[in-house]
Amino acid sequence: MKNLKVNIAGVELKNPVMTASGTFGSGREYGEYMDLNQLGAVVVKGVAITPWKGNPPPRIAETYGGMLNSVGLQNPGVEVFIEQDIPFLRQYDTKIVVNIAGKTIEEYCQVAERLADADVDLLELNISCPNVKEGGVAFGTDPRMVEKVTREVKKHSKQPLIVKLSPNVTDITEMAKAAEVGGADGLSLINTLLGMSIDIHKRRPVLAMGVGGFSGPAIKPVAVRMVYQVKQAVSLPIIGMGGIATGEDAIEFIMAGATAIAVGTAHFHNPRASLEVLEGIQEYMEKYKVQELKKIRGIIK
Ligand code: FUM
Repeated sequence: MKNLKVNIAGVELKNPVMTASGTFGSGREYGEYMDLNQLGAVVVKGVAITPWKGNPPPRIAETYGGMLNSVGLQNPGVEVFIEQDIPFLRQYDTKIVVNIAGKTIEEYCQVAERLADADVDLLELNISCPNVKEGGVAFGTDPRMVEKVTREVKKHSKQPLIVKLSPNVTDITEMAKAAEVGGADGLSLINTLLGMSIDIHKRRPVLAMGVGGFSGPAIKPVAVRMVYQVKQAVSLPIIGMGGIATGEDAIEFIMAGATAIAVGTAHFHNPRASLEVLEGIQEYMEKYKVQELKKIRGIIK
């Protein structure tokens, strides 16, 4: 039996497979297709201090090799999350990671503080959503801001803080270093790339907001490259994501330096995608006689 355990900032996961925020709700929708006990962790959709209604439709569109979204971090707020989603997820033997959203630094801090005594394992600071006017990527593209938000939220969090980075920057290692200096316990990357589709018959953008976040298999080489670069630049554990749909995809991220990986867009056409990724990782380990994942983590120098 191969050892699939990984450790992110002191939290041990039974395996490296997580769900990417915003693609898995709070897990409820997927429970009938798969056994949530098998996942290393469930990362829930962004949670804010108050309910957010998100952006107007259409806010999802298919593209070649992926999809665009501009959901705008719709969520019911942290109180509903604590009341309904934590008890649901705690029925399963998996770790809970809460993606936290805010329009201001204070709002991020309020969510972290509200979750301080909640039964969740890790926080993921969302400073990379491209679909909101305040907060999100507006905080994630300036290294001084990345450092400041991380430092402030860290003061209010009890759980280890993972900072989710945006690829919509010139040099992602600058943001990674800033998060490290600000006190991050780990990084997750990448969030979506800014994209756009135009309906040439209606002569208008497909998404109501015009632009949105591009995800799916087409972005995988960008994500692998960024994980590789960030691994060389900082010493924090990395959760890698961006177009992962198979075990082989996940192994690429691990060889680039990721400790854990998250499956996202693939869930929309295959609700069992994360479990198939897990099976694929196990098959790879069997085939190449890899006893534990640290033997291959970051081997690409
Ligand atoms: O629009 C959205 O809800 C996307 C969130 C994200 O990319 O973090």
